[in-house]
Amino acid sequence: MRASSITDPRRADQESRPAVPPALRVSGFTKTYAGGFTAVEGLDLEVPDGAFFGLLGPNGAGKTTLIGSVCNLVRPTAGRIEIFGHEHTTREARRLVGLAEQDINLDRFMNVEEVLVYHAGYFGIGRARAQARARELMEVFDLSGKARVRPPALSGGMRRRLLFARALMHSPRLLILDEPTAGVDVELRTELWEYTRRLHEVGTTILLTTHYLEEAEALCQEIGLIREGRIIARDSADGLRARYGARDIAEVYLRAMAQKPVAEERA
Ligand SMILES: Nc1ncnc2c1ncn2[C@@H]1O[C@H](COP(=O)(O)OP(=O)(O)O)[C@@H](O)[C@H]1O
Ligand SMILES: [Mg+2]
Repeated sequence: MRASSITDPRRADQESRPAVPPALRVSGFTKTYAGGFTAVEGLDLEVPDGAFFGLLGPNGAGKTTLIGSVCNLVRPTAGRIEIFGHEHTTREARRLVGLAEQDINLDRFMNVEEVLVYHAGYFGIGRARAQARARELMEVFDLSGKARVRPPALSGGMRRRLLFARALMHSPRLLILDEPTAGVDVELRTELWEYTRRLHEVGTTILLTTHYLEEAEALCQEIGLIREGRIIARDSADGLRARYGARDIAEVYLRAMAQKPVAEERA
Protein backbone atom coordinates (compact mmCIF):
# COMPACT_ATOMS: atom_id res chain seq x y z
CA MET A 1 0.00 0.00 0.00
CA ARG A 2 1.36 3.43 -0.89
CA ALA A 3 1.82 5.93 1.90
CA SER A 4 -0.59 8.32 0.25
CA SER A 5 -3.47 5.90 0.48
CA ILE A 6 -2.94 5.64 4.23
CA THR A 7 -2.68 9.34 4.90
CA ASP A 8 -5.30 10.59 2.48
CA PRO A 9 -8.73 9.54 3.74
CA ARG A 10 -10.40 10.79 0.58
CA ARG A 11 -8.33 8.49 -1.56
CA ALA A 12 -9.23 5.51 0.61
CA ASP A 13 -12.84 6.64 0.42
CA GLN A 14 -12.78 6.86 -3.34
CA GLU A 15 -11.34 3.41 -3.66
CA SER A 16 -13.85 1.68 -1.43
CA ARG A 17 -17.10 3.59 -1.97
CA PRO A 18 -18.95 5.39 -4.72
CA ALA A 19 -18.43 9.16 -4.87
CA VAL A 20 -20.27 11.32 -2.31
CA PRO A 21 -23.36 12.82 -3.96
CA PRO A 22 -23.22 16.58 -4.50
CA ALA A 23 -25.10 18.82 -2.09
CA LEU A 24 -27.23 19.96 -5.00
CA ARG A 25 -27.71 18.53 -8.46
CA VAL A 26 -30.11 20.25 -10.80
CA SER A 27 -30.63 18.89 -14.29
CA GLY A 28 -32.81 20.17 -17.06
CA PHE A 29 -34.71 22.46 -14.69
CA THR A 30 -37.36 24.55 -16.42
CA LYS A 31 -39.98 26.79 -14.86
CA THR A 32 -42.83 28.25 -16.84
CA TYR A 33 -45.12 30.28 -14.60
CA ALA A 34 -48.89 30.27 -14.95
CA GLY A 35 -49.51 32.76 -17.72
CA GLY A 36 -46.84 31.20 -19.88
CA PHE A 37 -43.67 33.09 -18.90
CA THR A 38 -40.62 30.83 -18.86
CA ALA A 39 -38.27 32.15 -16.16
CA VAL A 40 -35.71 29.34 -16.32
CA GLU A 41 -35.08 26.88 -19.11
CA GLY A 42 -33.02 23.69 -19.14
CA LEU A 43 -30.77 24.73 -16.27
CA ASP A 44 -28.07 22.35 -15.02
CA LEU A 45 -26.14 23.06 -11.85
CA GLU A 46 -24.08 20.97 -9.47
CA VAL A 47 -22.84 22.23 -6.12
CA PRO A 48 -20.39 19.86 -4.43
CA ASP A 49 -20.72 18.85 -0.79
CA GLY A 50 -18.88 21.40 1.35
CA ALA A 51 -18.77 24.13 -1.29
CA PHE A 52 -19.31 27.85 -0.79
CA PHE A 53 -21.10 28.69 -3.99
CA GLY A 54 -22.32 32.08 -5.16
CA LEU A 55 -25.02 32.56 -7.76
CA LEU A 56 -24.79 35.99 -9.34
CA GLY A 57 -27.11 37.54 -11.84
CA PRO A 58 -29.35 40.54 -12.39
CA ASN A 59 -32.86 40.91 -11.04
CA GLY A 60 -35.19 38.62 -12.92
CA ALA A 61 -32.44 36.16 -13.96
CA GLY A 62 -34.24 33.29 -12.22
CA LYS A 63 -32.26 32.87 -8.99
CA THR A 64 -35.24 32.90 -6.65
CA THR A 65 -37.21 30.68 -9.03
CA LEU A 66 -34.42 28.10 -8.92
CA ILE A 67 -34.03 28.33 -5.14
CA GLY A 68 -37.79 28.19 -4.65
CA SER A 69 -37.93 24.95 -6.61
CA VAL A 70 -35.03 23.43 -4.70
CA CYS A 71 -36.94 24.21 -1.49
CA ASN A 72 -40.34 23.06 -2.76
CA LEU A 73 -41.93 26.51 -2.78
CA VAL A 74 -42.15 26.61 -6.58
CA ARG A 75 -43.20 23.60 -8.61
CA PRO A 76 -40.77 22.85 -11.45
CA THR A 77 -42.24 22.54 -14.93
CA ALA A 78 -39.51 20.07 -15.92
CA GLY A 79 -36.23 18.71 -14.68
CA ARG A 80 -34.75 16.91 -11.76
CA ILE A 81 -33.46 18.32 -8.46
CA GLU A 82 -31.52 16.28 -5.92
CA ILE A 83 -30.18 17.24 -2.51
CA PHE A 84 -27.35 15.02 -1.32
CA GLY A 85 -28.68 12.39 -3.69
CA HIS A 86 -32.31 12.63 -2.51
CA GLU A 87 -35.07 13.78 -4.80
CA HIS A 88 -35.95 17.29 -3.58
CA THR A 89 -39.57 16.60 -2.61
CA THR A 90 -38.63 13.78 -0.23
CA ARG A 91 -38.54 14.12 3.53
CA GLU A 92 -34.82 13.34 3.57
CA ALA A 93 -34.08 16.14 1.12
CA ARG A 94 -36.24 18.66 3.01
CA ARG A 95 -34.42 17.95 6.24
CA LEU A 96 -31.05 18.54 4.65
CA VAL A 97 -31.73 22.01 3.31
CA GLY A 98 -32.35 25.30 5.08
CA LEU A 99 -33.45 28.51 3.39
CA ALA A 100 -33.25 32.15 4.37
CA GLU A 101 -35.64 33.67 1.86
CA GLN A 102 -35.18 36.87 -0.05
CA ASP A 103 -38.58 38.18 0.98
CA ILE A 104 -39.01 38.32 4.72
CA ASN A 105 -42.02 36.18 5.52
CA LEU A 106 -42.59 35.89 9.23
CA ASP A 107 -45.84 35.09 10.97
CA ARG A 108 -46.81 38.38 12.61
CA PHE A 109 -48.72 36.63 15.39
CA MET A 110 -45.84 34.57 16.74
CA ASN A 111 -43.01 35.92 18.80
CA VAL A 112 -39.35 35.28 17.99
CA GLU A 113 -39.05 32.15 20.07
CA GLU A 114 -42.35 30.75 18.76
CA VAL A 115 -41.26 31.37 15.15
CA LEU A 116 -38.18 29.26 15.76
CA VAL A 117 -39.81 26.47 17.76
CA TYR A 118 -42.75 26.21 15.36
CA HIS A 119 -40.40 25.91 12.39
CA ALA A 120 -38.54 23.03 14.06
CA GLY A 121 -41.86 21.19 14.24
CA TYR A 122 -41.81 20.75 10.45
CA PHE A 123 -38.72 18.64 10.87
CA GLY A 124 -40.01 16.45 13.66
CA ILE A 125 -37.82 18.07 16.30
CA GLY A 126 -39.32 17.63 19.77
CA ARG A 127 -40.38 20.69 21.78
CA ALA A 128 -37.64 20.52 24.41
CA ARG A 129 -34.90 20.16 21.82
CA ALA A 130 -36.43 22.87 19.69
CA GLN A 131 -36.54 25.26 22.64
CA ALA A 132 -32.92 24.56 23.49
CA ARG A 133 -31.90 25.10 19.89
CA ALA A 134 -33.97 28.28 19.69
CA ARG A 135 -32.24 29.66 22.79
CA GLU A 136 -28.86 28.80 21.32
CA LEU A 137 -29.63 30.53 18.02
CA MET A 138 -31.23 33.57 19.68
CA GLU A 139 -27.97 33.92 21.59
CA VAL A 140 -25.87 33.63 18.43
CA PHE A 141 -28.00 36.14 16.54
CA ASP A 142 -28.37 38.54 19.43
CA LEU A 143 -32.12 38.05 19.72
CA SER A 144 -32.33 36.72 23.28
CA GLY A 145 -33.70 40.02 24.54
CA LYS A 146 -36.45 39.84 21.89
CA ALA A 147 -37.67 36.28 22.52
CA ARG A 148 -41.22 37.46 23.34
CA VAL A 149 -41.40 40.15 20.67
CA ARG A 150 -43.39 39.69 17.45
CA PRO A 151 -41.83 40.42 14.04
CA PRO A 152 -43.72 43.68 13.35
CA ALA A 153 -42.01 45.15 16.42
CA LEU A 154 -38.51 44.08 15.35
CA SER A 155 -36.07 46.23 13.39
CA GLY A 156 -35.28 45.21 9.80
CA GLY A 157 -31.89 43.88 10.87
CA MET A 158 -33.46 41.78 13.62
CA ARG A 159 -35.91 40.28 11.15
CA ARG A 160 -33.02 39.32 8.88
CA ARG A 161 -31.22 37.70 11.80
CA LEU A 162 -34.40 35.84 12.71
CA LEU A 163 -34.66 34.50 9.15
CA PHE A 164 -31.09 33.23 9.47
CA ALA A 165 -31.80 31.61 12.82
CA ARG A 166 -34.98 30.00 11.49
CA ALA A 167 -33.12 28.55 8.51
CA LEU A 168 -30.65 26.95 10.91
CA MET A 169 -33.11 25.46 13.41
CA HIS A 170 -32.82 21.95 11.98
CA SER A 171 -29.04 22.21 11.35
CA PRO A 172 -29.23 21.81 7.56
CA ARG A 173 -26.23 20.50 5.63
CA LEU A 174 -27.08 22.79 2.72
CA LEU A 175 -27.86 26.38 3.65
CA ILE A 176 -29.37 28.55 0.95
CA LEU A 177 -29.21 32.30 1.40
CA ASP A 178 -31.20 34.33 -1.11
CA GLU A 179 -29.91 37.91 -0.96
CA PRO A 180 -29.47 37.67 2.80
CA THR A 181 -27.85 41.07 3.10
CA ALA A 182 -30.12 43.12 0.84
CA GLY A 183 -30.92 46.35 2.65
CA VAL A 184 -28.83 45.42 5.67
CA ASP A 185 -26.33 47.86 7.21
CA VAL A 186 -22.58 47.29 6.89
CA GLU A 187 -22.14 46.10 10.44
CA LEU A 188 -24.82 43.42 10.27
CA ARG A 189 -23.68 42.41 6.79
CA THR A 190 -20.18 41.79 8.11
CA GLU A 191 -21.60 39.80 11.01
CA LEU A 192 -23.86 37.67 8.84
CA TRP A 193 -20.99 36.89 6.46
CA GLU A 194 -18.72 36.04 9.36
CA TYR A 195 -21.32 33.66 10.72
CA THR A 196 -21.84 32.11 7.29
CA ARG A 197 -18.11 31.61 6.96
CA ARG A 198 -18.00 29.78 10.27
CA LEU A 199 -20.89 27.52 9.23
CA HIS A 200 -18.99 26.71 6.08
CA GLU A 201 -15.87 25.91 8.06
CA VAL A 202 -17.72 23.30 10.07
CA GLY A 203 -18.89 21.57 6.90
CA THR A 204 -22.13 23.30 5.86
CA THR A 205 -22.53 23.72 2.12
CA ILE A 206 -23.50 27.30 1.29
CA LEU A 207 -25.40 28.48 -1.76
CA LEU A 208 -25.96 32.19 -1.82
CA THR A 209 -27.18 34.91 -4.11
CA THR A 210 -26.10 38.49 -3.61
CA HIS A 211 -25.57 41.71 -5.47
CA TYR A 212 -22.51 42.54 -3.35
CA LEU A 213 -19.93 41.37 -5.85
CA GLU A 214 -16.76 41.99 -3.86
CA GLU A 215 -18.22 40.07 -0.95
CA ALA A 216 -19.14 37.19 -3.22
CA GLU A 217 -15.60 37.23 -4.55
CA ALA A 218 -14.12 37.16 -1.06
CA LEU A 219 -16.42 34.46 0.29
CA CYS A 220 -17.21 32.06 -2.53
CA GLN A 221 -14.93 29.31 -3.77
CA GLU A 222 -16.99 29.13 -6.90
CA ILE A 223 -19.32 31.53 -8.65
CA GLY A 224 -22.05 30.77 -11.16
CA LEU A 225 -23.28 33.55 -13.42
CA ILE A 226 -26.94 33.34 -14.33
CA ARG A 227 -28.62 35.38 -17.02
CA GLU A 228 -32.12 34.99 -18.40
CA GLY A 229 -32.62 31.65 -16.72
CA ARG A 230 -29.35 30.08 -17.86
CA ILE A 231 -26.00 29.52 -16.19
CA ILE A 232 -23.58 31.20 -18.58
CA ALA A 233 -20.36 30.52 -16.68
CA ARG A 234 -19.12 28.97 -13.47
CA ASP A 235 -15.65 29.03 -12.02
CA SER A 236 -13.54 30.38 -9.17
CA ALA A 237 -13.29 34.18 -9.06
CA ASP A 238 -9.73 33.85 -10.45
CA GLY A 239 -10.93 31.58 -13.23
CA LEU A 240 -13.71 33.97 -14.17
CA ARG A 241 -11.36 36.97 -14.16
CA ALA A 242 -8.99 35.17 -16.51
CA ARG A 243 -11.81 34.01 -18.73
CA TYR A 244 -13.34 37.45 -19.12
CA GLY A 245 -10.01 39.31 -19.08
CA ALA A 246 -11.35 41.32 -16.14
CA ARG A 247 -9.63 43.03 -13.24
CA ASP A 248 -12.27 42.15 -10.70
CA ILE A 249 -15.54 40.33 -10.34
CA ALA A 250 -17.56 43.47 -11.01
CA GLU A 251 -15.95 43.70 -14.43
CA VAL A 252 -16.53 39.97 -15.02
CA TYR A 253 -20.16 40.51 -14.17
CA LEU A 254 -20.64 43.46 -16.49
CA ARG A 255 -18.92 41.70 -19.37
CA ALA A 256 -20.77 38.44 -18.84
CA MET A 257 -24.12 40.15 -18.64
CA ALA A 258 -23.36 42.24 -21.73
CA GLN A 259 -22.29 39.04 -23.50
CA LYS A 260 -18.81 40.33 -24.33
CA PRO A 261 -16.57 37.73 -26.01
CA VAL A 262 -14.72 35.54 -23.53
CA ALA A 263 -10.92 35.34 -23.33
CA GLU A 264 -10.70 31.85 -24.81
CA GLU A 265 -12.36 33.00 -28.01
CA ARG A 266 -9.54 35.47 -28.53
CA ALA A 267 -6.82 32.95 -27.71
N1 LIG B 1 -45.05 33.85 -9.46
C1 LIG B 1 -44.59 34.32 -10.63
N2 LIG B 1 -45.40 34.43 -11.71
C2 LIG B 1 -44.95 34.87 -12.89
N3 LIG B 1 -43.68 35.25 -13.12
C3 LIG B 1 -42.83 35.18 -12.09
C4 LIG B 1 -43.22 34.72 -10.79
N4 LIG B 1 -42.14 34.74 -9.98
C5 LIG B 1 -41.13 35.20 -10.73
N5 LIG B 1 -41.53 35.47 -11.98
C6 LIG B 1 -40.70 35.98 -13.09
O1 LIG B 1 -39.63 35.09 -13.30
C7 LIG B 1 -38.43 35.80 -13.61
C8 LIG B 1 -37.35 35.39 -12.63
O2 LIG B 1 -37.66 35.90 -11.35
P1 LIG B 1 -36.81 35.53 -10.07
O3 LIG B 1 -36.62 34.06 -10.05
O4 LIG B 1 -37.43 36.17 -8.91
O5 LIG B 1 -35.42 36.22 -10.44
P2 LIG B 1 -34.22 36.72 -9.50
O6 LIG B 1 -34.39 36.07 -8.17
O7 LIG B 1 -32.99 36.27 -10.23
O8 LIG B 1 -34.33 38.20 -9.44
C9 LIG B 1 -38.79 37.27 -13.56
O9 LIG B 1 -39.04 37.71 -14.88
C10 LIG B 1 -40.03 37.29 -12.71
O10 LIG B 1 -40.87 38.38 -13.04
MG1 LIG C 1 -34.47 36.83 -6.32
